[in-house]
Amino acid sequence: MTAILGISAYYHDSAAVLVVDGEIVAAAQEERFTRIKHDFAYPANASAYCLQEAGLEPKDLDYVGFYDKPFLKFERILETYLAFAPVGFRSFLKAMPLWLRQKLHLPREIRRELGGEYRRGVVFTEHHESHAASAFFPSPFDNAAILTLDGVGEWATASMGVGTGNTIQLTHELQFPHSLGLLYSAFTYFCGFKVNSGEYKLMGLAPYGTPRFVDEIFDNLLDLKEDGSFRLDLSYFNYCQGLTMTSRKLDHLFGGPPRAPESPLTQREMDLAASIQKVTEEIVMRIVRHLHSKTGMKNLCLAGGVALNCVSNGRLLREGPFENIWIQPAAGDAGGALGIALFIWHQLLGNERVAQNPDGQSASLLGPQFSDTWIQEYLDRTGSVYHHIPDGTDLDQRIVDLIEAEKVVGLFQGRMEFGPRALGCRSIIGDARSRKMQSVMNLKIKFRESFRPFAPIVMRERVSEYFEMEDEADSPYMLLVADVAQGKRLPVDGEDAEGLDKLKVLRSEVPAITHVDNSARVQTVDPVRHVRLHRLMSEFAGRTGCPVMINTSFNVRGEPIVCSPEHAYHCFMGTDMDVLVLENYLLLKDEQPETAVPDRDGYLAQFELD
Ligand SMILES: [Fe+2]
Repeated sequence: MTAILGISAYYHDSAAVLVVDGEIVAAAQEERFTRIKHDFAYPANASAYCLQEAGLEPKDLDYVGFYDKPFLKFERILETYLAFAPVGFRSFLKAMPLWLRQKLHLPREIRRELGGEYRRGVVFTEHHESHAASAFFPSPFDNAAILTLDGVGEWATASMGVGTGNTIQLTHELQFPHSLGLLYSAFTYFCGFKVNSGEYKLMGLAPYGTPRFVDEIFDNLLDLKEDGSFRLDLSYFNYCQGLTMTSRKLDHLFGGPPRAPESPLTQREMDLAASIQKVTEEIVMRIVRHLHSKTGMKNLCLAGGVALNCVSNGRLLREGPFENIWIQPAAGDAGGALGIALFIWHQLLGNERVAQNPDGQSASLLGPQFSDTWIQEYLDRTGSVYHHIPDGTDLDQRIVDLIEAEKVVGLFQGRMEFGPRALGCRSIIGDARSRKMQSVMNLKIKFRESFRPFAPIVMRERVSEYFEMEDEADSPYMLLVADVAQGKRLPVDGEDAEGLDKLKVLRSEVPAITHVDNSARVQTVDPVRHVRLHRLMSEFAGRTGCPVMINTSFNVRGEPIVCSPEHAYHCFMGTDMDVLVLENYLLLKDEQPETAVPDRDGYLAQFELD
């Protein structure tokens, strides 16, 4: 037996992954355990969980791998500082303590964290190699072109290459400070959202705007080549030397300073979001066309934070030139832990790789799960009122009754998802046909910005009926955006709504998941990978004719997705959620004891706004 622990840490989204004899046995992000969103601390809880899942101890590990090369990264930070010195001294000083204390002594730190029981070396890959490995090795392809795109690792901000059999080879890269991820993050910052978490909001905001700044961006901010490579004009940015992302010069270009966080959104931010989305897509399309012409391959694998831009992924799939695309669901840095572990198994140890169908990621359901016994003990201890419904069909019928009555249901079943999206195991679900659901879910359940769209889950066999996608198209990881099918849209009398008023227009038979540009972030649900969820959806479809539901992550704004039944119960009680399903236990809000209702402000205040 060969056990390999992969770790990503000290930047953002720490995670641990355990691979045993080539199989991904367990994977989890540290934030889920510590309840600190994007936690970057050493993933002590996540790695303890991974070992426990396999019944192993640190001394049983054959290899430990770390997802980037700290010395190279340090060199980049040092050189960037020196290039701009003395400007940037403050941000340099801010970064130093963590480097000197931990990052430059990683093997020592890791062995210490493993209780001194692991005495072998630590393997390091480059950041983009980890992303690339996470994109290719679990993919269903024997060979594929690979593209990674993110903010920055050591020096690379994007990399290209090929994967064949059990080997990946990266051949080209784009280097810091020229970075598509950082460009997108700069606009995220400028529009008043948090860097490294607000990017998803910016993408969701784009359909409210018109891309009227595209020319300004291309004319001023970057010099884009035909092959998709580019150079940024650094005078508009501040991330090399300062504590902000953008400079005064950018304020002048876009008619004023950045939007203050949490202040009202104006048309400018919506138009900026639409514009940078268009620019991002143009850059991605050029890179991908170039990669295709260089490699001549028909498959493409993607990872890195930019690969979470599902709008651009949807375009890639529709417009080609690659026939097939596979995207690592944990495309951000958490996925690097998976990449290094698989890299060690295949590339370093030379173990054969047989591409699996539909892929080697097991629906990304790789985290902890909890038994009925565990749950019942917890519920009894807390004095909760519950209904134990051991028969699956009975339970589904009860849940469907409640969803039809426009109740909001927290669904906690099976293993927790690995990656940023909840895929039905730590999800909040509701009726996609309901007109009020979008606003109820945003304002009373998630306590988040009213403009944010919700994603649908759809039974895979009926996906083309509801969305402009091929029959039985596979999108199990909610990484693709497609339009709602023409046949399900409703006539809209002359679209004259502007900005956030667009939300009020009824556009389709499934309004709760139809974004203001008629698009939707689709997750397909099939009976193999999501047995229980598919069965529940069949019950709903049988009753209502509709194979679509809303699926959003089980958390409130700023809170990491729930991991344990305890987190789920607290979130249920801290919000206006009506129903909680914990495996085979069903809880109704109305029946819970008064004493279990927390002070809501206190509950929400423990999570820093994202
Ligand atoms: Fe990354």
